[in-house]
Amino acid sequence: MTTAGIILAAGKGTRMKSSLPKMLHMVAGVALVGHAVRIMRIAGIEDITVIVSSDLADSAELREALLPRVKVSVQAAQLGTADALQAARLDVAGADTIVVAPADVILVTDDLVRQMIDQHISSSSLATVLGARVDDPAGLGRIQLDDSGRPSAILEEHEADEQLLLSKLINTAWYCFDNRWIWDELDNVNAADTGEFYLPRVVAAAASDDRSGAVVSNDSDAGLGVNDRVQLSRVESIMRKRTNEAHMASGVTIDDPATTYIDVDVEIGVDTAIGPGSHIGTRSVIGSGVVIGPNTQITDSRIGDNAIIDGARVLDSIVGEGASVGSNAVLRHGAELKPRSKVGNLAEIKNSVIGSGSSVSHFSYVGDAVVGDNVNIGAGTITCNYDGKDKHRTVIEDEVLIGSSTMLIAPITIGKAARTGAGSVVRNDVMAGDTVAGVPAKSIKSK
Ligand code: UD1
Ligand code: CA
Repeated sequence: MTTAGIILAAGKGTRMKSSLPKMLHMVAGVALVGHAVRIMRIAGIEDITVIVSSDLADSAELREALLPRVKVSVQAAQLGTADALQAARLDVAGADTIVVAPADVILVTDDLVRQMIDQHISSSSLATVLGARVDDPAGLGRIQLDDSGRPSAILEEHEADEQLLLSKLINTAWYCFDNRWIWDELDNVNAADTGEFYLPRVVAAAASDDRSGAVVSNDSDAGLGVNDRVQLSRVESIMRKRTNEAHMASGVTIDDPATTYIDVDVEIGVDTAIGPGSHIGTRSVIGSGVVIGPNTQITDSRIGDNAIIDGARVLDSIVGEGASVGSNAVLRHGAELKPRSKVGNLAEIKNSVIGSGSSVSHFSYVGDAVVGDNVNIGAGTITCNYDGKDKHRTVIEDEVLIGSSTMLIAPITIGKAARTGAGSVVRNDVMAGDTVAGVPAKSIKSK
């Protein structure tokens, strides 16, 4: 049995009042449409097609939001969810079962999706809907059950009678369909009085063959959609709470979950402790025994075991095992701290490697540099890497001692175990073992 996934994401999302299409709005570091893809992938669906409007089909923003190997098809005019699904017909030709999802209902879990697929297949149903019993069903489609508890129809709020409106059993808009059956049924869907073609209508057709089914979640959150920015923030906070709790369950200490923002798809090792006001961005990998925060931001970075990141920003960088980063330090654009190195308060490291056991003290800037092992860079040192036109590299070899407030005019190499005096302006390479000082710096080593 092969199962393919289809995500309907061509809607206008007008209630967001945004120039950004709804499905590209972010929740916990991932766009809405990316969440739908992610849930399907974790549920085991490899073959996924996303239906979008024509203006977005080739956009870089869409590609960025999707995982690899996700196909994109276009719904030419936004004529409703049944019409949107038509656009995927050829993409899923080889599948037995299709899972269809909206891009805006992302608190459905992969467990529920798997349960829906399993039940759909084992009961040989034509259509299976994922329902949720919710506290507030306002605005959502209601699932009508027959006497045997099977769905007989799904009606939108404006179509439902008074009795059905009392029901809190809503349609999450996640479904399974038999792939040989669904396409003719789509052709039979009539336009609603809004002029749109509603996908949930096909459930009544499956019911008339006694082959409709439902999996119902009692988690009210599973029914929450994102149609406006209030719902966006609600879904975001539930997603974050779930993520924090999953990390705590697997051995991470979070001092104050209410002010700790961890995106989805972050790995964190056991016994890592995260202080209040910390943000960890998607795709970051944090080792075990790491101390993070308070007030720390880490994005797109790898942090080794037992490192300390104390109130710093670490962006697109690597921090080695046992290394430490002081408060208000910034590591960015491919900075790499080797094991046991130290970056002090208010220092900035950009596109540079800091060797193991080396230390870059407070207020220093190290950019486009390679710093060896056991180097000490005094406070206020600057690698002057930019000449107004081009960027240049600085090489500082092992065991060098750079005096405080040294200006290193790149391109430049400071040889092994050399030293610079405090306040030197170093314009030329320094030989291994030499000591230079002054402006411009000259050798002061007695020969
Ligand atoms: C839909 C369901 C409703 C369900 C609710 C769950 C229909 C008619 N109604 O309502 O029963 O309770 O989701 O949140 O399906 N889309 C397209 N092309 C279109 C129209 C929509 O791709 O022409 C996409 C949207 O981008 C969205 C999804 O389909 O991702 C659902 O559309 P939306 O307009 O949000 O439907 P709801 O009114 O929320
Ligand atoms: Ca919706």
